[in-house]
Amino acid sequence: MVTIQIQTQDHSYPVYLGEGLRYQVSKLLSKNYHNILVISDDTVAQFDYVKDVVSSLTSNETNIYTYIIPSGEASKSLEQFGNIQTFAIENQLDRHALILAVGGGVVGDIAGFVAATFMRGIDYVQVPTTILAHDSSVGGKVAINHPLGKNLIGSFHQPVAVIYDLETLHSLSLNEKRSGFAEVIKHACIADENLLHKLMNEVRSFNDLSNDILYDSIGKGISIKAKIVEQDEKEHGVRSFLNFGHTLGHALETEAGYGELTHGEGVAIGMVFAAKLSHREFGANPLPEGFVDWLYQLGYRFDIVRKLDVPTLIEQMKKDKKNSHGTIRMVLVEKIGQPSLVPIDEHVLKIELEQFQKEVVRYVKGI
Ligand SMILES: NC(=O)c1ccc[n+]([C@@H]2O[C@H](COP(=O)([O-])OP(=O)(O)OC[C@H]3O[C@@H](n4cnc5c(N)ncnc54)[C@H](O)[C@@H]3O)[C@@H](O)[C@H]2O)c1
Ligand SMILES: [Zn+2]
Repeated sequence: MVTIQIQTQDHSYPVYLGEGLRYQVSKLLSKNYHNILVISDDTVAQFDYVKDVVSSLTSNETNIYTYIIPSGEASKSLEQFGNIQTFAIENQLDRHALILAVGGGVVGDIAGFVAATFMRGIDYVQVPTTILAHDSSVGGKVAINHPLGKNLIGSFHQPVAVIYDLETLHSLSLNEKRSGFAEVIKHACIADENLLHKLMNEVRSFNDLSNDILYDSIGKGISIKAKIVEQDEKEHGVRSFLNFGHTLGHALETEAGYGELTHGEGVAIGMVFAAKLSHREFGANPLPEGFVDWLYQLGYRFDIVRKLDVPTLIEQMKKDKKNSHGTIRMVLVEKIGQPSLVPIDEHVLKIELEQFQKEVVRYVKGI
């Protein structure tokens, strides 16, 4: 097991990373709680991870309650939020209770937001079970969706610990591994050239991700995110670098329609496009040779770019939170590990996106 300590303005918390940690949750908590509410989703529960966590907590002095939401983004809703609060009140949880989120980013986000608001804020611990959650479980952003937009209702609430059991990641579908891994690649692109080369050399498929690779990529991904969040907890500056690949990525995700493109697939395409703009801005391609082919071999697909309407994508990109006074701003990389936030002229964006649509034919065919 390794421990990564995260320092925020108000407190510091450990991220434990290891194998079989779901059996040791009780030992890893820094204090005893009389009431614990475990929140998870029905897919994660099928794999017995919830049962394992609950067994590790069982003692005579602890009341343990379990709330299972349906798996999927639709559960990050006001309705589920209300239901969980009602469940917590009915079971007489108090200010000293703990919420334990066992699952991916959906469970972490809604459970974290319940913890942020129940009795004006109680402790919560993340037990992430997806690769993507190496990103979402660190940094303290918690939120639910509104019918009018994603993550519109939320807060900053840091967990008291993150307990990451790498064994749970092997049951993820290839699609979910691919989605989560895009965020590892993103972390490497904005902060660690060596990590990027290592990943390109060692990860050739998601069928056989070894625990060694998971340790390394998730550990380094968390450390990179933590360093940025420590400098800018509330996203006034450098935290926006974590959005590399997300301006186009989010627009693609929205326009492709629910279920068509995972978050990470959108981010992967978005990173390649951001690199293209970086080339234009800084005069050289920041990506290592073979990067796009590598993504293609890993199963990231680019077809969607050709099917979508450029003006509609630009309208979506205009809604991005990094924009300022109507100007689109994107995270570009002059070199791997050197990100910056750059205003992009709408006209330039149109030309580059149209060109990208043509270039992408090569990636679509894998040549
Ligand atoms: N708070 C943040 O800083 C932050 C950052 C990035 C993303 N997010 C949020 O994270 C969410 C996406 O997270 P996600 O990709 O983890 O989605 P998710 O939680 O929906 O998990 C993806 C799917 O995998 C299943 N699953 C989870 N663990 C599993 C396991 N071990 N084995 C088999 N199946 C498993 C889930 O049931 C779900 O169907 C989005 O809502 C996004 O907004 C938040
Ligand atoms: Zn993301």
